[in-house]
Amino acid sequence: MTDSRIPTARLGTDGPEVGAQGLGCMGMSFAYGPTDTEASRATLERALELGVTLYDTADAYGAGENERFLAPFFKAHRDEVVVATKFALSIPPDDPTKRIIRNDAPYIREAVEASLRRLDLDVIDLYYMHRRDVNVPIEETVAVMADLVREGKVKQLGLSEVTGDELRAAQTVHPIAAVQSEWSLFSRDIEAGVVPAARELGATLVPYSPLGRGFLTGSFANAEQDLTDGDFRRQQPRFTGDNAAANAALLTPVRALAEAHDATLGQIALAWVQQRAQVHGLPVIPIPGTRKPARVAENTAATRLVLTEAELSLLEPIAEKVAGDRYADMTFASAGRE
Ligand SMILES: NC(=O)c1ccc[n+]([C@@H]2O[C@H](COP(=O)([O-])OP(=O)(O)OC[C@H]3O[C@@H](n4cnc5c(N)ncnc54)[C@H](OP(=O)(O)O)[C@@H]3O)[C@@H](O)[C@H]2O)c1
Repeated sequence: MTDSRIPTARLGTDGPEVGAQGLGCMGMSFAYGPTDTEASRATLERALELGVTLYDTADAYGAGENERFLAPFFKAHRDEVVVATKFALSIPPDDPTKRIIRNDAPYIREAVEASLRRLDLDVIDLYYMHRRDVNVPIEETVAVMADLVREGKVKQLGLSEVTGDELRAAQTVHPIAAVQSEWSLFSRDIEAGVVPAARELGATLVPYSPLGRGFLTGSFANAEQDLTDGDFRRQQPRFTGDNAAANAALLTPVRALAEAHDATLGQIALAWVQQRAQVHGLPVIPIPGTRKPARVAENTAATRLVLTEAELSLLEPIAEKVAGDRYADMTFASAGRE
């Protein structure tokens, strides 16, 4: 392959160097409509060729199905890939709109063994707490996670959707290598508290949904009209009804910059996340999700796209105009507790 490989970034203060863009694997089994197994497998291989080494999954993605699907790929490339998975969240099969969150020790102990079994691995490279259960002190949860490191089941620890204060409390127990939170042109709430805390503590930021779950690419404009039944985005307030129409109109400057750079809308969105992190002075490894080899090439090429100060300022006003929350229930997200 002649495509250039992407640059690298460090995971935490003393972790491995990984490709500066990772791959979100959730959609390969869960949440975003029908999947094509062969195309997903080809996407994983293509990503690796392009220098993507951080692969993101969770036990909640398809109730273990995503971890099982990824296992043969991880096995075949064990020395080249960094495997990130998560515990804490489950979705009752009889009500896919509900979320059950557990952060207690017995649950974590069961969850890690189940993930190791499904992934067919001896050790998980990066183990995240997916969601915060406010009934369990975060220090207790991280103490259990730290035991998993000592026992050799897990190499590094991460937290997802925590507040800056929760991150600080966690760090008193064990170093947190990565914070995974939604961060995009449309979702910037973490810049107030979470990003400064991550910078101060040396945690790498792993922005999820950097393409606004696909909305920022222009590939759909209204979830109810454009996406299949059961697609999770039909539950998200910003992608339906009047909100969707108002938000689609916010893409005008993104479209203009895409034309100016002979790039796609998605590439502008990804370049923005990468450069926004530089403004805050912390390492960042966005994990755009795709199931298509051509798109992974398109997305990784965005690591070479540089926006000028004037161009960045055109994008600056977008986030505060977005209509609708990130989730229907924001208590599960860091911004809902700040
Ligand atoms: N910690 C958390 O709570 C949390 C929450 C959500 C997600 N995540 C993780 O973050 C990853 C990424 O987030 P995400 O998948 O929600 O959102 P995203 O990366 O913002 O967007 C993914 C969507 O964009 C589409 N897409 C990707 N590249 C594209 C391109 N170049 N052109 C047009 N469309 C494109 C994908 O469709 P195709 O697949 O069909 O290409 C998919 O529908 C997930 O896979 C998951 O691992 C974590």
